[in-house]
Amino acid sequence: MAATAPESQTRPAPGPAPDPVSFIRVRTTVPRRPLPPNAVRQPIYTERLVLRTLTMDDLPDVRILRTQPEVMHWTAAGVPDGDLEQTRSRLMPFLPPGDGVTYNFGIYDRATGEFVGMGGSHQFRSSLGWPEIGYMIKKEYWGKGLGTELVKGWLGAWEALEREEVELEVDARTIDEEEKAAVAASGGLVRERLIAITATGNDKSQGVLQKAGFEWFLTWLALDSVKGSGPESLIELPSFRYFTQGKKSE
Ligand SMILES: CC(C)(COP(=O)(O)OP(=O)(O)OC[C@H]1O[C@@H](n2cnc3c(N)ncnc32)[C@H](O)[C@@H]1OP(=O)(O)O)[C@@H](O)C(=O)NCCC(=O)NCCS
Repeated sequence: MAATAPESQTRPAPGPAPDPVSFIRVRTTVPRRPLPPNAVRQPIYTERLVLRTLTMDDLPDVRILRTQPEVMHWTAAGVPDGDLEQTRSRLMPFLPPGDGVTYNFGIYDRATGEFVGMGGSHQFRSSLGWPEIGYMIKKEYWGKGLGTELVKGWLGAWEALEREEVELEVDARTIDEEEKAAVAASGGLVRERLIAITATGNDKSQGVLQKAGFEWFLTWLALDSVKGSGPESLIELPSFRYFTQGKKSE
């Protein structure tokens, strides 16, 4: 029997980077903004983790996380933070008043209380137009299924947020032709999506996303600012989407 090629080898060639000029306007839902502030957010418990809102007291732990080269290699920054002020500026968006549009949590070992990492939605409008999820785990905790556990746990809280109907400018490639046609015919809403953008080679993160219910839909080319600005600096960014079963607003 012929072996089946891995999904990553059967995907079409990468496309161009998202260009807001060519975005399409869709009617859909998103979590109602401002999001519930940190002060009222309840901890999210999974089997081994607790996800809690971040405070400036977490700065030393966030500093350790954001200076691990193995972790930062796979983030948009690509390299560890420089000074402490840079780390502070990366934590600030998750504290009030930034919590009106971010839904990012500190992740702690439920048994020991130790800081494991951080994750959630750090951007309400990703480069593809939809809300985006991201996560980082300290390297000592990799390979134990914690990334998958945190994403699944966080998704439950994200889906439980109250929704509002909005018009959103999004990259047309986030929506299949069949859905565009169905929405055009019925006048209904485009299904809400959550986006995750990975880099080629980040098999761990892609494994996490697939196990949490995301599907690959697009790979695009971007300039890797760490590598420079020439054609040799182009990297492929496989992107995933998740169809959010959002709670309907009253
Ligand atoms: C991505 C990250 C959160 C994963 O955390 P983790 O706790 O190690 O992930 P998990 O153990 O839940 O799952 C990884 C899964 O991916 C798959 N996977 C792991 N290593 C793999 C590899 N080398 N090749 C292919 N698949 C792999 C497996 O399915 C694995 O599940 P398993 O442990 O049940 O076999 C962590 O590696 C990290 O913080 N990386 C740096 C930051 C980052 O990449 N963030 C995401 C940016 S998109």
